Amino acid sequence: MCGIVGYVGFEDVKKIILCGLEKLEYRGYDSAGIAIADNNNVYICKEKGRISNLRECMDGTVSGKLGIGHTRWATHGVPNKINSHPHQSSSKRFTLVHNGIIENEEELRHKYLNGIKFTSDTDTEVIVQLIEKFVGDGESVELAIRHTMSELKGSYALAIIDSEDMNTLYAAKNKTPLLAGKGEGFNMIGSDAMAMINYTNIFYEIEDKEFLKITRDSIEIYTIYGNRVLREPYKADIDASDTEKGTYPHYMMKEIEEQPFVIRKIMSEYSDDNGNMYIDPEIVENVRSCDKLYIIACGTSYHAGLIGKQFFEKIAAKPTEVIIASEFIYNMPLLPENPLFMFISQSGETADCRAVLVKVKEMGYKTLTLTNVKGSTLSREADNTLLLHAGPEIAVASTKAYTAQIAVLSILAAMVDNRVNIDIFKELSKIAYTMETLCDDKDNYREFAEKYLVNSRNCFYIGRSMDYYLCLEASLKLKEISYIQTEGFAAGELKHGTIALIEQGTPVIAVITQENINLNTRSNIKEVKTRGAATMVISLRRLSQETDAIVIDDVNELLSPLAAIIPAQYLAYYAALLKGCDIDKPRNLAKSVTVE
Ligand code: AGP
Repeated sequence: MCGIVGYVGFEDVKKIILCGLEKLEYRGYDSAGIAIADNNNVYICKEKGRISNLRECMDGTVSGKLGIGHTRWATHGVPNKINSHPHQSSSKRFTLVHNGIIENEEELRHKYLNGIKFTSDTDTEVIVQLIEKFVGDGESVELAIRHTMSELKGSYALAIIDSEDMNTLYAAKNKTPLLAGKGEGFNMIGSDAMAMINYTNIFYEIEDKEFLKITRDSIEIYTIYGNRVLREPYKADIDASDTEKGTYPHYMMKEIEEQPFVIRKIMSEYSDDNGNMYIDPEIVENVRSCDKLYIIACGTSYHAGLIGKQFFEKIAAKPTEVIIASEFIYNMPLLPENPLFMFISQSGETADCRAVLVKVKEMGYKTLTLTNVKGSTLSREADNTLLLHAGPEIAVASTKAYTAQIAVLSILAAMVDNRVNIDIFKELSKIAYTMETLCDDKDNYREFAEKYLVNSRNCFYIGRSMDYYLCLEASLKLKEISYIQTEGFAAGELKHGTIALIEQGTPVIAVITQENINLNTRSNIKEVKTRGAATMVISLRRLSQETDAIVIDDVNELLSPLAAIIPAQYLAYYAALLKGCDIDKPRNLAKSVTVE
């Protein structure tokens, strides 16, 4: 969701900014733009649509050593060239890109900017006009930016060029991710490490309401009040090759096939020198001693949380509730004396989760984040973090992060109190192997997608208990990338209304991995089949019947979602492929959802 990148240094900035923007593509966007400071002129190129459009329309002769770029995911104003960033002040002295939402833009227009002619429908233009206004009132550029920050309500990551100083890049942040990257003879800023990883892996975290003054030789961080902040940089443990597709046609396929490796990596990251499970004792104790665990998450991470609840309750006997982050504030449960809040977020930047984190921290409760991104906002702001170690996930549809979340949750639950004596590492090893055999079968999934899904308008995934939670994720995968309207449904609940939607040929995919629900789910399959549904069953070998379409080698039932999701991910992938959809960048979606 919107991304920014900026560079000041010695190389031709055009190539660097375009490369950064391409690395940010995975976050989701509908238009893109770039500004290059070139001999006291600021050259701007912006276009609706893909970055390739930008490449095509750019003046090849322009070059400069200072530049900023932006991918926009429209919130204020339709996606078009005019609303794309960068935006400029009336005199064109200041040029700015913005990620976030300004809530009081109307108020600011009336208070300070009467008589100013705005060219776009964006909230962003207010920011750049305000900076110019305060400079016009006699403030220095630095003061004017900090003054503007103090007036803004909402979220922002900003990169700003002043055409009267082509050696300095300004930036600011509040509630929206921003990192500064340190190089040799150059410095950068970006919405995430990925935007800069081809050039540096040394980064400074930037806190809310901080202001940056960056030249090719220095990165100066200040508070909004102008006090200098001294901070040590950190080295990111990703390299540029982690973000490449290699020989895979899509990131999604690469990430599906990385899952066995990720499970093994997690086992090695969460083991001690003797190969036993190990998690920071403070984290384990916080979970052990809480009265109730609250898991807060969105989308796929929420679905992983639902599986996690089963682990905490069945393995560790720890009462657990899972709540969609954006619903928490309105439906806050009655909390016990000592709750623990766990945030599950692949990106670690999801604004809905962050809003809850801020709230429960104010209330004085302990917090833990489970994320794939070291140094992300949710990680920095929670008391503790558990990393997923899944490597960068670029495809918008989450795959390996989901299974990594489930794997780490299973280890944590068993560390807290292993009441069922499950040998998690042994079972995860089996899962990793089973995942590989399932991946080997992908040609079959392609055939099923062709036969059942490609020509369908809608589809159902049905299951009970753990299988139901798995179905929620399986259906999200299918709908988000193939645009086939899909529902994940509790198999027993269908007959209470939704079965009315079953028509001749409606695909219904049933998942059966739990012995105690096998027969009941099979009855539900019969119910829909009699009404014309085209049914297909994914089952565990020991529960399977001859007619089942996809049979998974026997794995521990509690951990079965880790295996059963693989065919579902492929079915979504092939349905999208055969329909000609943009698999890695589905319409309307963003990878990192940084607005509430
Ligand atoms: C999953 O495929 C999604 N694209 C989406 O539901 C995602 O899981 C959700 O937006 C939460 O993101 P997070 O894990 O980064 O917080």
